Amino acid sequence: MDARSQQRRIDKFFSGPGARADDWRDLVEAAKVWADGSGDRSQFEALLSELAVTEEYHAYPGPHLIAALKERAGSGDAAGTVALATRIIYALQTRSFRQCSGDWSLHEEGEAGLQDLLPPSFGQTDARRPYFETLIVTGLPAASWPSVSAEWRKLRRPIDQFVYEPVLVGSFEDAFCATILNSNLAAVVINEGFSYRSRHDAPVLRTLTASMGLQEVSDVSALRLAHVLKRVRPELDVYLMSNRDVEEMAGDPQADIVRRIFYSVEELLELHLAILEGVQDRYETPFFDNLKKYAQRPIGTFHALPIARGKSVFRSDWIRDMGEFYGPNLFLAESSATTGGLDSLLEPTGNIKKAQEKAARAFGADHVFFVTNGTSTSNKMAVQALLAPGDIAIVDRNCHKSHHYGMVLAGAQPLYVEAFPMTEYSMYGAVPLRTIKQALLNLKAENRLNRVKMIDLTNCTFDGHIYNVRRVMEECLAIKPDLIFLWDEAWFGFARFSPFLRPRTAMGAASDIEDWMDDPKSVAAYEKQRTELGASPTDEVLLKTRLIPDPRKIRLRVYQTNSTHKSMSALRQGSMLFVKDVEFHTVEAQFHEAVFTHASTSPNQQLIAGLDVARRQMELEGYGLVANAIEIAFAIRQAVNTNPLISRYFRVLGADKMVPGAYRESGFVDYLEPGVNWTTALRSLKEDEFCLDPTRITLVCGTAGFDGTQFKGILAGRYGIQLNKTSRNSVLLQSNINNTRSDVAHLVRVLAEIAGEIDRGLKQGGANARKTFEGRVKSLMTDVPDLPNFSRFHDAYRGDAGARTNEGDIRSGFYAAYDAEGCEYIRLADPEIDQRLKNGPELVSANFVIPYPPGFPIMVPGQVITQETIDFMRKLDVKEIHGYDAAEGLKLVRPEALARKSGRQPPATSKLKAAGA
Ligand SMILES: Cc1ncc(COP(=O)(O)O)c(C=O)c1O
Repeated sequence: MDARSQQRRIDKFFSGPGARADDWRDLVEAAKVWADGSGDRSQFEALLSELAVTEEYHAYPGPHLIAALKERAGSGDAAGTVALATRIIYALQTRSFRQCSGDWSLHEEGEAGLQDLLPPSFGQTDARRPYFETLIVTGLPAASWPSVSAEWRKLRRPIDQFVYEPVLVGSFEDAFCATILNSNLAAVVINEGFSYRSRHDAPVLRTLTASMGLQEVSDVSALRLAHVLKRVRPELDVYLMSNRDVEEMAGDPQADIVRRIFYSVEELLELHLAILEGVQDRYETPFFDNLKKYAQRPIGTFHALPIARGKSVFRSDWIRDMGEFYGPNLFLAESSATTGGLDSLLEPTGNIKKAQEKAARAFGADHVFFVTNGTSTSNKMAVQALLAPGDIAIVDRNCHKSHHYGMVLAGAQPLYVEAFPMTEYSMYGAVPLRTIKQALLNLKAENRLNRVKMIDLTNCTFDGHIYNVRRVMEECLAIKPDLIFLWDEAWFGFARFSPFLRPRTAMGAASDIEDWMDDPKSVAAYEKQRTELGASPTDEVLLKTRLIPDPRKIRLRVYQTNSTHKSMSALRQGSMLFVKDVEFHTVEAQFHEAVFTHASTSPNQQLIAGLDVARRQMELEGYGLVANAIEIAFAIRQAVNTNPLISRYFRVLGADKMVPGAYRESGFVDYLEPGVNWTTALRSLKEDEFCLDPTRITLVCGTAGFDGTQFKGILAGRYGIQLNKTSRNSVLLQSNINNTRSDVAHLVRVLAEIAGEIDRGLKQGGANARKTFEGRVKSLMTDVPDLPNFSRFHDAYRGDAGARTNEGDIRSGFYAAYDAEGCEYIRLADPEIDQRLKNGPELVSANFVIPYPPGFPIMVPGQVITQETIDFMRKLDVKEIHGYDAAEGLKLVRPEALARKSGRQPPATSKLKAAGA
């Protein structure tokens, strides 16, 4: 199999609908090759018959155009085949088929006879009604489907707010595959009487169903199918149509996932209205809708926001350009009022409350807080609300600085745990579960487990390491059943809308754990393991065992923060905090305090509207958009690593390079590795301790002689390509819901150009140029500094930490910096640093020191500085180091101040003494 088809195989599954465009492109190519005489018809026909299977899952081009293509090919009309295939692919690419009746017709001019097949509004001026497709699962024979579709179309009315096309399938397998592959679906109607097996025997279908564990099942009920489909796409509305005892079905607790149950076909119009109402429910954006209305009302403002209504802007000769740039609506929609339905973010009771409830539904949470100052604030809010002074939190030392600052504010005691290092690329991975369990067991041994409240981790990391969230929570809950989990999913909000990534999100995993807790088999599994482990298993046994928690004891408390603006269509700083906590009622008041502490009393209306709209988009088209982002990521990965010129100097790191083998228990190598099939990829996603988010693409540029910062500058300055994260020898590219294949083409062209320049330079520069280049590459790729681990808090800042545990009183360390007398500065190059590292007294940081990039604190307040940290700092070539001023030096707590704090004598060799002070 060639690399391209390998890529498409994985795409087809992972990005669901993503690979469809490629299949159509290949089909058109085959038609052209046949038409120009360089190929034959059989190739086209083979591709078409393969494609025709999965095209049944889409309304467009539909059976009549597919049949027409087959007919034209069959009759030897190569030119006609090319023309029709080209028209179809154009309609698919531009998505014009959603509005344009001509696209559905056999002939360019449109065909009167086909009009009754088309939505009534197609081709009319009001045709911009949003379009979606409804999957109809039916037990009727396929021969009757065209007339069933026609019945559905007859239900359309000009006053309908949306227009949809029915897509009919006749089996469980087909319904499942259509749900995976058709991103236009917004609703599903399941009629009883369908079969299990698809009438097609295409390998693609079998692989899909088998890899999702859908082998032949005895229960082919509509309800079971509803559950399976909701698991793939929870945002879809599912309706059941039954001829039997609908009352009994409706009373089944399992039916709570179904939006409505109808009795038989006699209710078709009701069903049609229900489908539209269901979509309207997702379409409705309570806050944004009201803001638009508010902006149109004539309002006199006597509050303190002159910019509201824009008069001070548009009437000014001096700042009118701002008004013209942003347009009047921005100003009309500005207000500092909380009346007029605008609601208050600080204490929402109206539209914001409703918008938050919809977001909770969309993201699988029980409660959501909208936050308008970024996830930096969401994290601080969560930490403040959930931790009190003296509480211990196990925290990834490499997490975003907002968590560390949150610990300072809360007065909590962080116990830092380390991510596995990726020294070669000057970055960190994620924290191994063994490390987290060991920390908990140590605390238990010190009788301090009751003090541990929270595990605070980043999922996924900046560089794309995704935790096995469910496993982490289950194993930790087996040690302490009421732990709170705070998952910083700043980068990962979009993952909710991929069925493959969702189980690895905090909310997805929490929901799976809830299901598991409800399953009677779970208690038996727990009891069995308890017997096997015996009364007092050693730590080593507990570390090695995949621990099962006691489902009867778990108090599931899960929080997730998400920078909606980082992966969805929210304005910058739009963030959400999700709650799934059975004890939320006990901390709700604390959350309100956290909101009052951190939220501005002047929250920006546009940011709130952006969050509301981002939710709407994700509920209605998030599935397809995320699939597209994943497909783009595969395209970039593929293009860089297989292009002979580009891959000479650049390389995208695969899962095998990003995740050490020990954490890839499935043996999975990489998505694009030859021979990797979807089943292994799926096993990796399900089982591995860590897996890689394909949309986060680490591009090694050190091998091209560029350090990360330098290469980022070249891409931005010369080519207008922006990215934000770099390491010593790499840059991070990210694909998101906004990217197109044209973006990929531009990037690839740029990389080819740069690689070409290097190539020419080396050829023309002779041996000297090559030697210089090789030296530079070596320095970037092999002379890399070791990544420093967190050492420990100085005794003065250990609070009441146990002998074997490393938590600290970071807050008093932080306030040490406020005592100017008690602090000193020493420059990095000053030999006193080396002297004190050797002979003491210890160097203790008074500050957070956070080099940017990579952005993790290499020193926190109260931390003892080690040789490793100094070596790392001395090798750092980044300009921006938060908390460190090169001219002044490192800010340290003086030994005298430390001694005062610990109630001891200062050591004799302090700088003050040495200087004779
Ligand atoms: C892991 C992580 N959490 C939180 C944040 C902060 O998010 P925001 O920029 O929305 O404040 C970032 C920002 O880069 C981050 O990387």
